Amino acid sequence: MATYDLIVIGTGPGGYVCAIRAAQLGMKVAVVEKNPTLGGTCLNVGCMPSKALLHASEMFQEAGHSLAKMGIGVSAPKLDLPAMMDFKQQGIDGNVKGVEYLMKKNKIDVLRGAGRIIAAGQVEVTTADGKKQTVETKNIVIATGSDVAKLKGVEIDEKRIVSSTGALSLEKVPDKLLIVGAGVIGLELGSVWRRLGSQVTVVEFLDRILPGMDGEVAKQFQRILEKQGFAFKLGTKVTGVDTSGKTLSARIEPAAGGAAETIEADAVLVAIGRTPYTEALGLKEAGVALDDRGRVEIDKHFATSVKGIYAIGDVVRGPMLAHKAEDEGVACAEILAGQAGHVNYDVIPGVIYTTPEVASVGKTEEELKQAGTDYTVGKFPFTANGRSKVNQTTDGFVKMLADAKTDRVLGVHIVGREAGELIHEACVLMEFGGSAEDLARTCHAHPTRSEAVKEAALAVGKRAIHM
Ligand code: FAD
Ligand code: NAI
Repeated sequence: MATYDLIVIGTGPGGYVCAIRAAQLGMKVAVVEKNPTLGGTCLNVGCMPSKALLHASEMFQEAGHSLAKMGIGVSAPKLDLPAMMDFKQQGIDGNVKGVEYLMKKNKIDVLRGAGRIIAAGQVEVTTADGKKQTVETKNIVIATGSDVAKLKGVEIDEKRIVSSTGALSLEKVPDKLLIVGAGVIGLELGSVWRRLGSQVTVVEFLDRILPGMDGEVAKQFQRILEKQGFAFKLGTKVTGVDTSGKTLSARIEPAAGGAAETIEADAVLVAIGRTPYTEALGLKEAGVALDDRGRVEIDKHFATSVKGIYAIGDVVRGPMLAHKAEDEGVACAEILAGQAGHVNYDVIPGVIYTTPEVASVGKTEEELKQAGTDYTVGKFPFTANGRSKVNQTTDGFVKMLADAKTDRVLGVHIVGREAGELIHEACVLMEFGGSAEDLARTCHAHPTRSEAVKEAALAVGKRAIHM
């Protein structure tokens, strides 16, 4: 008889949440983790440390710039970078301990070491000192996440040429920071170092920032970032970085071809995406199929090509987001328990935790156009929202897209302070198939920024009050 009902390989937000839900449903569960700490990319080198530094650097910026205009006199803030890094580490440690506590509370065994699938029902675990054990299980869930995508000709050393991991631990503020890729990581970590004093230049291959985001939102957000001091070189690629001098010298050229030039920098952040992580997992030998992008292929129920082996999170198709991984973990455990686990991929919010934040859920205007959907748009700027006006935080707007015939909300996109919190009323509305009219008729407390979301819903019906 198998020792476990379920072994989950990887303890990121996908893996540990899947393990907890399975234990709640009565399964005997173990997790396998090769890192010294639990929590995966998200807790150790992703979501959480980046949010700690975004928060701390925002406070630094506020102290230096915004407090005086409210009549609060403070002397110029002084940066103690090691102390800021300690603040970040305390946050990581607290969350990692939390996951360890949850494993104990749910009686989940933690097998420390690298997991390799021998066959369905068998996982080999190799500890850091080389000891091996084979563990039997009814089911296996692969939750091994993703890794940094590499850029040809640019060798990451995590000191001067860094991935997001190195950019979360720089030892000093680089005078000039060059970022390759105007995606989520580039703009979040660029914001951290910009606020702490770096001159930030972002080189993006495409002719716009944040591909996949609503175009109008991306355009306005780019203007806001430029006001904050970001410089963008769009339609441009980095072809190599010369590391021989005291400063780095990056060769760039137009994406469409043309004359090359060089940009000097003290640090280069490569943030051009992430790739699924399946190294040394034994997938080929076990017969687990990958798709053309190296992701573990799964069906609608997270089942791979081998019976008894499932996969969730960054290592499978879909957005590489922690909450998507978590929801897949829950659904997968429920399916294993014979329930109807399900993830609604139409309602997965995406948030960029800059100042202001950018948040979005559902379809963009470009996607609706491309699909030939007849839609109506309601927009409301934060300049017309009372609370934003008194706080003098009026950057951004809310944009709501609704089906022209049924008024059902199809997408909501927000640039603005706390957009990452505001988006969730749109998520709940969309999960219940609600209309703009439903939201417009829901009483919103005054004065709140949420009133801007209600006004955007009213604007769908061309009857916003404060515009
Ligand atoms: P991971 O979190 O990557 O965890 C996989 C785990 O599997 C790791 O611990 C790894 O060590 C382990 N593992 C791999 N192979 C083996 C093996 N063979 N044996 C044992 N263990 C193994 N997403 C958000 O939603 N919000 C954010 O704010 C956000 N910020 C981010 C910031 C940065 C800088 C980065 C890099 C990512 C960020 N993300 C964010 C993305 C988020 O981190 C991922 O989507 C999420 O971590 C994916 O979860 P996962 O469980 O699939 O995999
Ligand atoms: P990304 O996919 O968001 O952005 C990568 C950018 O790099 C794109 O704009 C792309 O066009 C550009 N690019 C690709 N190749 C290039 C090249 N050779 N030269 C110049 N530009 C190039 O990837 P990113 O920012 O690395 O993030 C990885 C993942 O992590 C994302 O999928 C994201 O979902 C997740 N993440 C989520 C966060 C959040 O939810 N707040 C925060 C950070 C990461």
